[in-house]
Amino acid sequence: MRLITDRLLLRPLRPGDEADVLAYRGRADVSRYLESEPMTPGDVEGFIAERATATSLDKDGDRILLAAELDGHVIGDVRLRAGRLEDAQGELGWVFHPGHHGRGYATEAARALMRLGFEDLGLHRVWAQLDPRNKASARVCERLGMRQEALLIEESRFKGEWGDLAIYALLAREWTSTRK
Ligand SMILES: CC(C)(COP(=O)(O)OP(=O)(O)OC[C@H]1O[C@@H](n2cnc3c(N)ncnc32)[C@H](O)[C@@H]1OP(=O)(O)O)[C@@H](O)C(=O)NCCC(=O)NCCS
Repeated sequence: MRLITDRLLLRPLRPGDEADVLAYRGRADVSRYLESEPMTPGDVEGFIAERATATSLDKDGDRILLAAELDGHVIGDVRLRAGRLEDAQGELGWVFHPGHHGRGYATEAARALMRLGFEDLGLHRVWAQLDPRNKASARVCERLGMRQEALLIEESRFKGEWGDLAIYALLAREWTSTRK
């Protein structure tokens, strides 16, 4: 599984990526709106091992997780997670190093994964969920052409407080029509 975009190589995580992954997933600012806490040096090897083979959606709950490589370094990762395969839905997610924010890399990587989902995997709907305070992530959704479908108020406990949740999505026919 390798996807090449204008500026990035998207490929599975692999042993050797530990320092690059820890450099962003180990940061408190990066995990502010993630369910996970900042990664520790002890976590990173297992994190990579668990995801290195996440390259296809063959059964319910499978995910594709790809490292975004720029100039030989992993600067972030994107994932597409299936629910029930028969629903043909894919949930997108993205995490990038702050040193590489503001250049469009997350949108570029996510768009490649969205294209894979719609055009190669036959997904019917691609969606994302995020904390609405995460404005940068909401803007990624908007740049991808997704529409906000829901804003759930205080629907869960998130890091010790009530958390809101925004849902964004795009249907396959909407993806196709924007390409015409
Ligand atoms: C969410 C996250 C990936 C967004 O990163 P980002 O840098 O804002 O998004 P992109 O890489 O797509 O860059 C887009 C920005 O680059 C700008 N940009 C500059 N050059 C660009 C180019 N060539 N192409 C596209 N955009 C470009 C855009 O204008 C945009 O800026 P704006 O949002 O201020 O309008 C990042 O904030 C992050 O990793 N956060 C921590 C993890 C996280 O919260 N993940 C999401 C959980 S739901």
